[in-house]
Amino acid sequence: MKPIDPRAKIYVAGHRGMVGSAMVRLLKNKGFENVITRTSSELNLTRQAEVESFFQSEKPDYVFVAAAKVGGIIANRNDPTGFLYDNLMIASNVIRAAAESGTEKLLFLGSSCIFPKHAEQPIRESSILTGALEPTNEAYAIAKIAGLKLTEYYNRQYGKRFISAMPPNLYGYGDNFHLENSHVIPGLMRRLHEAKLASSPEFIAWGTGTPLREFMFVDDLADGCFFLLQNYEEPLFINLGSGEEISIHALVHQLAEVVGYQGRIAFDSSKPDGTPRKLMDSSRIHQLGWHHNTSLREGLKLTYEWYLRGQVLRLASPGKTSV
Ligand SMILES: NC(=O)c1ccc[n+]([C@@H]2O[C@H](COP(=O)([O-])OP(=O)(O)OC[C@H]3O[C@@H](n4cnc5c(N)ncnc54)[C@H](OP(=O)(O)O)[C@@H]3O)[C@@H](O)[C@H]2O)c1
Repeated sequence: MKPIDPRAKIYVAGHRGMVGSAMVRLLKNKGFENVITRTSSELNLTRQAEVESFFQSEKPDYVFVAAAKVGGIIANRNDPTGFLYDNLMIASNVIRAAAESGTEKLLFLGSSCIFPKHAEQPIRESSILTGALEPTNEAYAIAKIAGLKLTEYYNRQYGKRFISAMPPNLYGYGDNFHLENSHVIPGLMRRLHEAKLASSPEFIAWGTGTPLREFMFVDDLADGCFFLLQNYEEPLFINLGSGEEISIHALVHQLAEVVGYQGRIAFDSSKPDGTPRKLMDSSRIHQLGWHHNTSLREGLKLTYEWYLRGQVLRLASPGKTSV
C-alpha cells in the first residue's frame, strides 16, 4: 500500500459529473485540499493542445479520469461518431499528457459495456476482446477499450503507475432523473414517485422483471477508486463491483417501498428485457480487501432523499435546478 500524501495535487477530470463529484466529495472529506478541477468549457479534453498545456502548467501528482461523453441507448444510436471520437480523444489526450508531465498515478474508468455481449457470467476481466460487443453502444465501448489499453501499455512499456477500473451500473447523488434518458434506478424512482403523488392504483414496469443486474452506490465507487489509487498497480484493469445482483422485479418492489408507493405493481412482458444477466466477477478486488459499504436499500433511500431535496429546490426557484 502506498498512502497518498494529503498535500498531493489531484486532478479530477469530470468533477461536475456523477462519478467525478463523488470523488471530489470523498477527497474533501478525507482532508485533501489540493484538488484541481476544470469544467468542459474551461478545458475541453478533446483538444490535445489545451490538455497538454494544462498538464504542463499544473503537473498534477494524481489524475482521476471521470470525464466522458456519456449517454443512453438513443444518444449512442444517434451519434456513434461523437461517442467514439470524443471518448477516444479524452482518453488519449489525458493519459498521454499525464504520462509526459510526470503524473505519479492515474486511474481511468471504463464501463461494463466494454465486455462482449455474450460474455460468460459473472464476467471476468479476462473476457475482454473475446467476442462481439453489444451493437447499441459499440462506439462508446471501443473508445473505452482503447483508453484502458492505453493505461495498460503505459504501465507495461514505461512502468507508469497507470491503472483502470470497471464499475457496474451506478446510482446515487448527482444521478440523472430524466424520464427518457435515465438509467434504470433513477428512471424507476422518478416514475414511482410521480405515481405516488398521482395516487395511481397501478404502476407498470417494463419487461418480465426477471433480468438480473448489479448496482453500486456512487460513493462506494469513489471509495473503491481511492482504495485502488493506493493499493493497485497492475497493468490489467480491475472489476470494481459489489458482486451482488438483484432481479428487476425485486428492485422495483424495493424502490416502491423506499418511495412509499402503495399501489399494485405489474410487469409488461411485451416490452423488451435486455440481456438476462449482467454481473461482473469482482473477486480480484475483494481478495485485495476492498468491499462496498452501502446496501442497495440504504443507497436507494439516500438517493431518494437527494432527489426529494432537488424537487424542493426546484419548486423554490423554478428553472434553476434540474434533476
Ligand atoms: N454512471 C454510471 O452508471 C457509470 C457506470 C459505469 C461507468 N461509468 C463511467 O464513469 C465515468 C463518469 O460517468 P458519469 O456518470 O459521472 O458521467 P456524467 O455525469 O455525464 O459526467 C461526465 C463529465 O465529463 C465531463 N466531460 C464530458 N465531455 C468533456 C470534454 N470534452 N471535456 C472536458 N470534460 C468533459 C463533463 O464535464 P462538464 O460538466 O464540465 O461539462 C461531465 O462532468 C465515465 O467514464 C463512465 O463511463 C459510469
